Amino acid sequence: MWRWRRAFWNFFMEFKFRHAKPMVIPAPMIQIRPIVPVPLASQFPRIPITGVMVADHIPGDEAQLPARLFCRLQLALDRVFSPMQVGLVPIDADPEVALALAYPASHRRSFPAPTRPTGFDPVPDLGRLAVDGPYSCYVERSAAGVYKWDVSALEGFEIHPGLRSPAAVVEFALEAGSRSLRATRIDSELGSCTPGDHDWELAQRLALCGVTTHLSLVRHFNWLHLMSGGPLSFTTRNCLLATHPLRRLLQPHVYATHSSNHMVTLDQMAPGGDFENIFSFTHAGVCDLFQQSCADSDLRRFNPNFDVRLRGVDASELDLPAHENFRAIFDVIRAHVERYLRLYYDSGEAIAADEQLAAWLESLEAYIPHGVAELVGAPFTISGASELLATLVYFTTVEHEVLGSGVWNYQLWPDVQPPRVYASGQRIPLDVYARLVNANFTLNVRRTPLMSDFSSLALDVRGAQAFRTFHEDLTRLQAAMDGAPTTGWRIEPRMLKANINA
Ligand SMILES: [Fe+2]
Repeated sequence: MWRWRRAFWNFFMEFKFRHAKPMVIPAPMIQIRPIVPVPLASQFPRIPITGVMVADHIPGDEAQLPARLFCRLQLALDRVFSPMQVGLVPIDADPEVALALAYPASHRRSFPAPTRPTGFDPVPDLGRLAVDGPYSCYVERSAAGVYKWDVSALEGFEIHPGLRSPAAVVEFALEAGSRSLRATRIDSELGSCTPGDHDWELAQRLALCGVTTHLSLVRHFNWLHLMSGGPLSFTTRNCLLATHPLRRLLQPHVYATHSSNHMVTLDQMAPGGDFENIFSFTHAGVCDLFQQSCADSDLRRFNPNFDVRLRGVDASELDLPAHENFRAIFDVIRAHVERYLRLYYDSGEAIAADEQLAAWLESLEAYIPHGVAELVGAPFTISGASELLATLVYFTTVEHEVLGSGVWNYQLWPDVQPPRVYASGQRIPLDVYARLVNANFTLNVRRTPLMSDFSSLALDVRGAQAFRTFHEDLTRLQAAMDGAPTTGWRIEPRMLKANINA
């Protein structure tokens, strides 16, 4: 039966992947019916989360009816022929053999198989992973020369029987005479482990399980999609008229957020969804984790400069290759939004006098718990407004790429980084791995590239030119990256999508 099940779901995901077409983003339309933010549980009665506010309806211009019908079909098939099967054997001990079974040739023709990232072999190098790659957003300074990854916030939520808690804290020390980190201690339900201890290898797997769980569930889906993406979209639609210059600036980055968030919430969070079948938590555990962590959502985490300051990371004593990569792209985005703003406003006072903008800012502050006011600063200046706008464009493009497609080469190697850890020591079963692989496969569907010509969305000739200049700047940055040696993991402009939506 498993062979049939696997073949069916591989075919289904392959079909979904091949038929996903990048959206053509239309100019904004007049908003006739305002979006009312309501608790998530009121729209999804089987997902009892009240701390997240979502749209009360999907706006007509982003209905995406075929995609939503396909989503409903997938949910129905989930119930009658689930991709999960109780009692399956674990995946092969050889990760390449396990991957070959779960990611067949038909998938590879659509999207190349993942490769092992730097920092995984010959043994996991947590110090490298702390500054290079998608998990680089977790390292924080705790004392002079001492850093840590802390995902102890994953403690206390219901997990499946037989699993270990993914909560962990990794302590790092600066390597003597170098600008790199070395993991020196891991605290988890195994106790306190140091290198050389019997449980050190297992503790490292548990720490990587914790960090990837937090990244996928909390940072990606809860904080980025639900706590930031949704409010950005309904606030922009509600407060800025279709003819407002900032409505035009943000349109590529907010269009279709509500329809997409709606579909992905069902796929991943409804009972029987991806999250509870891949990671450690039960459905109740996932819902409690989201409810608990939503108040910690902070927009500054999605601004690379504010983020390193919040984490106390000190670039004078530590090499930060991922941060340097993010900052190079952020600088281009920041220049774009400031250039655009200066076309329509000549001072901070002019921005402050814009009643639509004031309402937009007030709504953003009301629905994103932290960070909006700090990003803007006071008094209102063009520079402060640019910092906020750049953060909004950055999180819908770069940060989302890091947290979504960016884990492709990382999350599919459970020998190093399992999505769940069994207390018995067994490897994850075939169905859990197959679901993990297919969930990540669909994160890589073709979507609207950020490097598209959005000049038709502009209000006027000057705005159109600003969109073209942005495209030229991204092209220049891409050429510079093409000419520089690749030293490991890197996000490049050509990889980026215009928004968070499938
Ligand atoms: Fe996403």
